[in-house]
Amino acid sequence: MSTLVTNIGELVTWQQDRPVLDRAAMVLEHGTVVWVGPAVDAPQADTAYDVGGRAVIPGFVDSHSHLVFAGDRAEEFTARMAGEAYAAGGIRTTVRATRAATDEQLTSHVARLVQEMRRQGTTTVEIKSGYGLSVLDEARSLAVARQFTEETTFLGAHVVPEGTTPEDYVDLVTGPMLAAAAPHARWIDVFCETGAFDGDQARAVLEAGRAAGLPGRMHANQLGEGPGVRLACELGLTAVDHCTYLSDADVDALAQSGTIATLLPGVEFSTKHPFPDARALLDAGVSIAIATDCNPGSCFTSSMPFCLALAVREMGLTPTEALDAATRGGARALARDDVGTLTPGSSADFTVLDAPNHLHLAYRPGVPLVQETWLAGRRL
Ligand code: NIG
Ligand code: FE
Repeated sequence: MSTLVTNIGELVTWQQDRPVLDRAAMVLEHGTVVWVGPAVDAPQADTAYDVGGRAVIPGFVDSHSHLVFAGDRAEEFTARMAGEAYAAGGIRTTVRATRAATDEQLTSHVARLVQEMRRQGTTTVEIKSGYGLSVLDEARSLAVARQFTEETTFLGAHVVPEGTTPEDYVDLVTGPMLAAAAPHARWIDVFCETGAFDGDQARAVLEAGRAAGLPGRMHANQLGEGPGVRLACELGLTAVDHCTYLSDADVDALAQSGTIATLLPGVEFSTKHPFPDARALLDAGVSIAIATDCNPGSCFTSSMPFCLALAVREMGLTPTEALDAATRGGARALARDDVGTLTPGSSADFTVLDAPNHLHLAYRPGVPLVQETWLAGRRL
């Protein structure tokens, strides 16, 4: 059964020769895009669906989120807005609430957040553990996440929990916790930062993960400069996330490696840290992605359009570059070539905007422009 999506005012495909088409159409079959081009040249299909001249873009690929948690930290946010500093230690507050929650409570909370993301045009989401920090609680957090996405990430190395030493905890994370987590995880992650894990500990965690079949990604240089970004590049990680505080050596390492720098502008918004200079990264030849980092502490937004608008306003990107980073960039950060684009062979994951073109995503911040979200050829 094929479907012709037609009367598309502007179609963002990211095809090499013509990344953005006007007056376009797209044919879907078995959940996949099989044809894109000018509407006047469209082939026949079993059914037709008219989007009334609206813009169609690839679904957002949110490559960094922490949706498995309980409780909230709205008061911590409010204190920050009044001048308090963000500290990694707040994670432990959420760990207490998460351990006390049942699997059902965690699952229904993730379902609500994923639904919120879908309504805002996200079609692929990565979900991390990291608020369990015990063998049992990390494994069940990942089992919950797995119900919603293949892109699950084991973040046992988020912070050292209360009642243990860093040495003992790294042994636990790289031993029994990794063994329990690995069946439910695609990736391994570590928070390399003052107050969390240092470079040597991060290396140990990532190497153990790789030996267990989990490729690495990393949280680094969020609260200050440190060894994380260079370590990520040295280890050839797929992505290193935050990249808020970068030295020239960090930028050089990123430009020379294939590691994607994932920028999380919602975090800078919600912690009052300075925004990273995405323009300088692109100009230096670094590949970037934009993601939400949706979590109860440093940034509780599920909205890729919000993050994209911040990237344009505060990080020097054009609206087109920001959309690219939020779709194709996110796909690269997850080593996926089937999402983030709309070309023959792509998964038919897309968003119909109630707008004539994608520039409106940044031009009309805070406005719910996502009219429809389609996942694998099905309108949600
Ligand atoms: O990506 N940086 C580490 N982890 C999360 C924040 C977690 C929290 O504050 O609860 C982040 O910002
Ligand atoms: Fe994060």
